[in-house]
Amino acid sequence: MKILIIGGNGTIGRRIKERLQTNHEIIVAGKNSGDLKFNLENSSSIRELFEKIGPLDAIIAVAGDAKWDRFENLTEDDYYTGIRSKLMGQVNLVRIGKDYLNYGGSITLTSGILADEPEIMTTSAAMVNGAIHSFVKAVNLELETIRVNVVCSDVVEDSFERYKNFFPGHRPVPMEKVTDAYVKCIEGTIRGEIIRIKA
Ligand SMILES: NC(=O)c1ccc[n+]([C@@H]2O[C@H](COP(=O)([O-])OP(=O)(O)OC[C@H]3O[C@@H](n4cnc5c(N)ncnc54)[C@H](OP(=O)(O)O)[C@@H]3O)[C@@H](O)[C@H]2O)c1
Repeated sequence: MKILIIGGNGTIGRRIKERLQTNHEIIVAGKNSGDLKFNLENSSSIRELFEKIGPLDAIIAVAGDAKWDRFENLTEDDYYTGIRSKLMGQVNLVRIGKDYLNYGGSITLTSGILADEPEIMTTSAAMVNGAIHSFVKAVNLELETIRVNVVCSDVVEDSFERYKNFFPGHRPVPMEKVTDAYVKCIEGTIRGEIIRIKA
């Protein structure tokens, strides 16, 4: 399959790339690195990216930010950071990317454990993750020729040192378990699923 990985040089994305490149053709796109550069926060940039690549069999998104801070500090604009980047970035990938997918193709998005288990300082990040879940369930009701799923992981092994103090009592998810979920979405036949992964 010809697969585009958005954020394929990031912490999780690079592991997905390593795993899938043994039996698929991989194209990596990112903000500052990759085969192609683009901005997930800008729908014209997303469309240009797909125009450059042409028809694809699968799209994986492992990119998108949200602002972390105490609720009392977050401004309205801070919420829009997550909405523009992680939420609407991925919604726009489906909205625009569906027209570039071959019949039976798939789009796999990425959310995160905060959707179900928020921590302090995550009202924005948790909200965005939850919204991605609702979007995936709803959009599958209307897309017949392609599949959309979302991977929702706890903190991954490769990020654990950096984030462990924000996630008391969590265990790092082995990277292989994380990449398994993306393989299941790409090579399997599931649709509209939220794949929740914990250690
Ligand atoms: N790390 C975890 O433990 C964990 C757990 C669950 C969910 N998640 C979620 O998974 C996603 C990826 O996490 P990560 O830890 O792998 O992040 P990361 O290491 O920061 O990598 C993010 C990747 O996304 C790309 N990117 C960021 N903003 C972009 C933009 N505006 N346009 C295009 N590309 C952009 C970056 O491209 P460049 O390399 O070109 O800059 C980078 O390759 C995030 O949404 C995160 O919330 C992470």
